[in-house]
Amino acid sequence: MANVLLIGNGAREHVIAEAVMRSKHNPKLFPYMKSNNPGIASLSESTTIGSYSDLEGINMFARKHTIDFAIIGPEDPLANGVVDSLNTIGIPSVGPTKDLARLETSKTFTRDLLQKYTIPGNPRYRVFSSLEGIRDFIGELDGIVIKPDGLTGGKGVMVQGDHFATRDEAIEKCREILDEHSSVIVEEKFDGEEFSLQCLCDGITVVATPPVQDHKRRFVGDKGPNTGGMGSYSLEDHSLPFMEKSDIAVGLAITQKVAEAIYKETGEYYRGVMYGGFIITKKGVQLLEYNARFGDPEAMNILPLLKTDFIDICRAIITGTLQDIEIEFDTKATVCKYVVPRGYGLPKDHPDARSTASKIEVDDVQDVHLYYSSVDKRADGLYMTTSRAIGVVGIAPDLDGAERKAEKAISAIKGSVDHRPDVGTKELIEKRIQHMKEIRG
Ligand code: GLY
Repeated sequence: MANVLLIGNGAREHVIAEAVMRSKHNPKLFPYMKSNNPGIASLSESTTIGSYSDLEGINMFARKHTIDFAIIGPEDPLANGVVDSLNTIGIPSVGPTKDLARLETSKTFTRDLLQKYTIPGNPRYRVFSSLEGIRDFIGELDGIVIKPDGLTGGKGVMVQGDHFATRDEAIEKCREILDEHSSVIVEEKFDGEEFSLQCLCDGITVVATPPVQDHKRRFVGDKGPNTGGMGSYSLEDHSLPFMEKSDIAVGLAITQKVAEAIYKETGEYYRGVMYGGFIITKKGVQLLEYNARFGDPEAMNILPLLKTDFIDICRAIITGTLQDIEIEFDTKATVCKYVVPRGYGLPKDHPDARSTASKIEVDDVQDVHLYYSSVDKRADGLYMTTSRAIGVVGIAPDLDGAERKAEKAISAIKGSVDHRPDVGTKELIEKRIQHMKEIRG
């Protein structure tokens, strides 16, 4: 028996809930959600709706249901210190304390950590709390990236060529960030192909899960604004088509060094997910950022493939015994595509921007996995909100099969919806391979 508290209400938490409920340990699931996710609710014993900053409310819910341990899905409750709060009533979590969650919540913490412990993967970077010195520094960089130092929901990073063109515009962006945040990071821009490496960590042992490639841009061909992620894929050989096997080993080695460094720095073991956003460049694998949680959508690529009991993994993370268990994944390819309201991610003055909170109907999707994200179940059916609605995941022996399954299922979802048909297709994969060939020279 295991009573599990799950915090979060998106598609990532829906797939976590499914992984929990596949366990042989007869688990009971108690989700604490910001809004009711019907997919998670259908797997649960009892749910409650509340704010992620109501730490006392979360503790009361946990006490009431004699929770054994918690799994924290999104970054906001981590940033609020939910793990520290649950610790005070003796409930351990899969997820870092507030101090350790700085790996995600403070970009400067992570860059400085890598620098202090001479861990490879950092770009040239500097942190500024005023405009002084910014012009000189960006004059030294071939390409510029600007980031606020805080949580931005994956949408705060500004890249030269995409969000601004000239150095003067870069300085203007820094000024705008400094109006709202205490500091801004200016970094050298990397060119390459990105991959997400979601690693499980008990503070000492770090285990990589299969790499995944996410698609952040809203539209086909990687056009349009950045989103939380429009879709992602993984391959049956647990690599990616543009990767060399050693690239995964480099990402894992960096993450192992970071786990060691964060312990030395804070005296606390990091127990949870360390999701590294890496990029393969001419200089090798470099670190874009860490997240202190599973990726959304990337969790939907890896958790359905998990062969090892997820409750055993959670317990090993909590007790520091990850090295004693073998973590295995099915050797299948996955394609996840997010179904979104047509207006999702569009500028406010776009004619489709209001097309959000409308009704959707989901016909039979056969053997495809559907994970609910921002949907609202009302008496007369399912409604979208303003954000990503449903993650559709095709799983097959190869990528082509997985992509076709996902597309077929999407055609069974009716309403004012949109998705990226190019995620996981041969054309887009070929583009990635060519891009990487050019970069590797
Ligand atoms: N896929 C991006 C994220 O989870 O932050």
